[in-house]
Amino acid sequence: MHHIILEHDTDFDGWRKAARSLVLNHVSPSDVTWLVQGDAPELFEPTALPPEPPNGTFNVPAKFVELAKAAILHRNHERFALLYRLLWRLRSHHDLLMVATDPDVAQVAAMARAVHHDEHKMHAFVRFREIGREQNAHYVAWFEPEHHIVELAAPFFARRFADMPWSILTPDACAHWDGHAVSITPGVAKAEAPTEDRLEETWRRYYASIFNPARLKVKAMQTEMPKRYWRNLPEASLIKPLIESAGRSASAMIAGAATEPHKSQKREEPPMVRKQAADDIEALRDEAAGCRACPLWKDATQTVFGEGPQAAEIMLVGEQPGDKEDLAGKPFVGPAGQMLDRALDETGIDRSKVYVTNAVKHFKFVPRGKIRLHQKPNTSEIRTCRQWYERERAAIKPALVVAMGATAAQCVLGKTTPINKSRGRLIDLEDGTRVLVTVHPSYLLRLPDADAKAREYQRFVDDLKIAAAHLRRSVRAA
Ligand code: URA
Repeated sequence: MHHIILEHDTDFDGWRKAARSLVLNHVSPSDVTWLVQGDAPELFEPTALPPEPPNGTFNVPAKFVELAKAAILHRNHERFALLYRLLWRLRSHHDLLMVATDPDVAQVAAMARAVHHDEHKMHAFVRFREIGREQNAHYVAWFEPEHHIVELAAPFFARRFADMPWSILTPDACAHWDGHAVSITPGVAKAEAPTEDRLEETWRRYYASIFNPARLKVKAMQTEMPKRYWRNLPEASLIKPLIESAGRSASAMIAGAATEPHKSQKREEPPMVRKQAADDIEALRDEAAGCRACPLWKDATQTVFGEGPQAAEIMLVGEQPGDKEDLAGKPFVGPAGQMLDRALDETGIDRSKVYVTNAVKHFKFVPRGKIRLHQKPNTSEIRTCRQWYERERAAIKPALVVAMGATAAQCVLGKTTPINKSRGRLIDLEDGTRVLVTVHPSYLLRLPDADAKAREYQRFVDDLKIAAAHLRRSVRAA
């Protein structure tokens, strides 16, 4: 019998080294026991690894390494043995991972999924508490993950909270960020985590403000935010009373919604009745800051919400924030924004008087070395994010929406629309808002030929002049 003792619960390198040596020496899975230091009984002698035979080698699919790296973080004590058995079987059945019904494959895949699910929950439910003040401020969170995911989840927090020193304490391991690097130390007891601070009240106020009684689905809420996480959330103390009062508040909302106006105040019914009360744009911005409706938030720095006066007559819609916008948290501040500013200037439209936003509110990119390469949002991302555009439009009530580029046109018109077919003419929406479709300023930036660039830029300015004329007309009419 071979007794392998790994250094710690997430010792993937130790497992890989031992597994490789054992496979190359033809040690069958039934002849190996796997333990972790600290869990191994005293006087239990680990077996020295047999030397690897000269020229011994074997390959495993990259997918196995990916699955094993995640599954090894599962709390199941059998994980090391299970992974070794799968590795052993892969030697003679290279395509085994394709057999989803195989019990070993299915179990490892389920474990890897559970680990990623837990990682996602940790990203969503860690709440930092501030200890110390000003220069000495440090942010500490207590969290109880289901699996051994602290190291896996830590880089997300380093990206997201890069500017603040933080520690996440858990019973298994603690992660710390000093602004430069993440370090991992052993787990601690809950008593070591601070319990109160001034951020608590902010969280509670934020949560109460985004809580919509009419949309309450207790089951879905409990699946997304399982009860076991509630005790560490500052807003948790609000959940029960908010659920209890939700029925009452929702009925009050419904009852209150249909007050008949006095006859003298009755106007002609607009063709489309707005389904929900218009929001205040600042409240919307706060709500969108926590948007997790699609996966794009995970890699982006922040939600880039629209910007401009709530009384704006014109709303300009682009595609999605770029690299500069993602860092600044403001739309159209990079090269495409400069092109847009120049064209607006030439058209006589004052940018500070228009509302500028994007169809998709998070930056979608792929990393290429130090560069983050823009990726076009897909239809599902555009559809998912459209609720924000709709709520922005309901709040702003612009007379004219300018959709710049295909993504914006898809969002504004609710369907894929070829730019050249609808460009440069006013399209009426059901509620009387008018839409103007034109190209995206970054299309102009990408044109390689100087003549084409100048020609297309002029067409873009001409389109915006239609918007300017519309603006002048509505100012005169007011
Ligand atoms: N491109 C866009 O569509 N929006 C921005 O905010 C920047 C670049």
